[in-house]
Amino acid sequence: RSPVITVDGPSGAGKGTICQLLAQHLGWHLLDSGAIYRVLALAAIHHDVELENEEALTLLAAHLDVQFLTGTENDAIKVILEGEDVTTTIRTQECSNAASKVAALPRVREALLRRQRAFSTAPGLVADGRDMGTVVFSKAPVKIFLTASAEERAQRRYNQLQDKGFDVKIDRLLAEIIERDDRDINRAASPLVPAEDALVIDTSGIGIEDVLKRVLEYVEQ
Ligand code: CDP
Repeated sequence: RSPVITVDGPSGAGKGTICQLLAQHLGWHLLDSGAIYRVLALAAIHHDVELENEEALTLLAAHLDVQFLTGTENDAIKVILEGEDVTTTIRTQECSNAASKVAALPRVREALLRRQRAFSTAPGLVADGRDMGTVVFSKAPVKIFLTASAEERAQRRYNQLQDKGFDVKIDRLLAEIIERDDRDINRAASPLVPAEDALVIDTSGIGIEDVLKRVLEYVEQ
């Protein structure tokens, strides 16, 4: 078995950036599990599958034709759904909200377990998500839980989406983050909670460099 570091937490806590830097630093693979839920949501929208139809969504999840291409320009991972580059499309607010709806369905989560675990290969994996440490890689030796105030997370997401050229309103982003948190925390299947053995870091008011330093100290100890 190769080692896994799990990084869980709510939207905008800085998981994506930290995981990318961490994977780069260690030379390990990276799993962006949220992207899988986003791609599934997009596939559902494309195929006119209702976001409450657990049976159809479970089937779609089991047969999802998705590829993650690494080693592209500026090290970003390209996401390909049924041959189409959806890297940008899956980041829209519509996809974020749809992803959190399909992610609430237990059988959908179950259907995606094996696909996620397949990312764990040598030399190691950094796994980014909501339930990496509690469910998918519950035996991982190193678990981290990143969080921050909803206001700060909304502000970070706002800056990020603006950089990508999306026209967004901060009030709406904040409202959606709160709504998505609520759905992720209160769902019956794999609710968003820190694993018992996770190091919890509140990143409110802390820059990414300092968060990375703390994480690296913890990982390397
Ligand atoms: O980037 P952001 O943190 O906003 O979202 P994401 O990590 O891409 O995840 C999108 C949605 O997928 C979340 O709101 C969760 O509902 C769901 N998700 C999940 O349930 N379990 C995971 N391991 C990852 C994401």
